[in-house]
Amino acid sequence: MANLTLFHNISSLLTMSGAAKKGARFVVQDDLGIIGKAAILVRGGEILWVGREAKLPKGLVPRGAKLKKIDLGGRTVLPAFTECHTHLVFAGNRHDEFEMRMRGASYQEIAEKGGGIVATVKATRAASLKDLVATAQVRAEKFVRQGVTTIESKSGYGLRTKDEMKILEAAGKVKGPRMVRTYLGPHAIPTEYKGRAAEYIEKIVRTDLPLLHKNGFACRVDIFVEKGYFELNLARTYLSRAKEMGFDLAVHAEQLSHSGGAQLAVELGARSAEHLIEITEKDVRALAASEVSCVLLPAADMYLQCNYPPARALIDAGARVTLATDFNPGSSPTQSLSLVGVLARLEMKMSLAEVLAAYTIGSAHALGLEQKLGSVEPGKLADLAVFESDWTELFYSVGDQNAHSVWREGKPLFI
Ligand code: NIG
Ligand code: FE
Repeated sequence: MANLTLFHNISSLLTMSGAAKKGARFVVQDDLGIIGKAAILVRGGEILWVGREAKLPKGLVPRGAKLKKIDLGGRTVLPAFTECHTHLVFAGNRHDEFEMRMRGASYQEIAEKGGGIVATVKATRAASLKDLVATAQVRAEKFVRQGVTTIESKSGYGLRTKDEMKILEAAGKVKGPRMVRTYLGPHAIPTEYKGRAAEYIEKIVRTDLPLLHKNGFACRVDIFVEKGYFELNLARTYLSRAKEMGFDLAVHAEQLSHSGGAQLAVELGARSAEHLIEITEKDVRALAASEVSCVLLPAADMYLQCNYPPARALIDAGARVTLATDFNPGSSPTQSLSLVGVLARLEMKMSLAEVLAAYTIGSAHALGLEQKLGSVEPGKLADLAVFESDWTELFYSVGDQNAHSVWREGKPLFI
């Protein structure tokens, strides 16, 4: 008989059950499914029962069964957060570009002069697998302390087979949180393929995608659809091919200009479209009518001093909106979930309930994990974030939102 664990003495538990039922669309406060004086019964990492502690059905704990009790001291419990868009594995940093941007250079101008993504590519190619794992481990733990148990990690700073695989392998060696790896070979055109983006796409479709099938390093693929990077026709070729091969699709779409990436994501049934700053009303309608999760990344918008995506229009039209840090050394050198949430509230006019749903059930959807994560309900995994403060105080203070403890499948990741 699997061991039973009872998490109890919870002052309020945000189950997110209503938000989960609605597929993380049109979320209002009632959808947070708040239970006071709650308890959660867990068996083998899976949630067996959730409710008011006083109402725990006796029959669920058979006589003689081993029951471990974890007293959460009257704290608040939420489904653990899912950080669904990061570029976690890279070497070096680009603090110099921040200063250049403040002196007037644009992100694109810096890239044209050999800075930007390709600068990180140089440093990452030179780094060993061991060093990449070590830095990624430290970064992952920083996310975990904030209540995260699932981290998406993109490649894209290798831009040649062995280095793309090295990055994905490094992400796979991170211990603790659940790592979801995404291949982003078409993140930028490698210098060896300058002016030959189509050949690069052809090459990675021929070599990297089949290799990923074999080594299992990623079951999702992404592409940066943007002028000067990969334009729409190439993105269509790449994503269609990947889809045929059974990969889940994500798209960096409409970040710096309108390139058609959002509509392409809808057309191909991508799991997510990410950034979505320069979207049109037509895009909003198409996204809202689709299953595509809209991953908004306001920390990158803050650093690049561009517009924020029209979160209100998307949410009010019925789109599933999620949030993430986009942590990377260029456009978003921050791992702060609180900054992301505060920007979402301040600049994108999202309600606190919408932010909480975005970071839990919404981001679980973005990674195709909504059956297992994102809400605290029977049948789901016991991934829990425990906070000292009341839930109404979350995403209020920037830079200061560590959890009291974080549990993955009923086991402690951080206390
Ligand atoms: O999501 N837009 C493309 N990729 C990253 C930036 C990566 C970088 O600047 O290193 C992003 O913002
Ligand atoms: Fe990104």
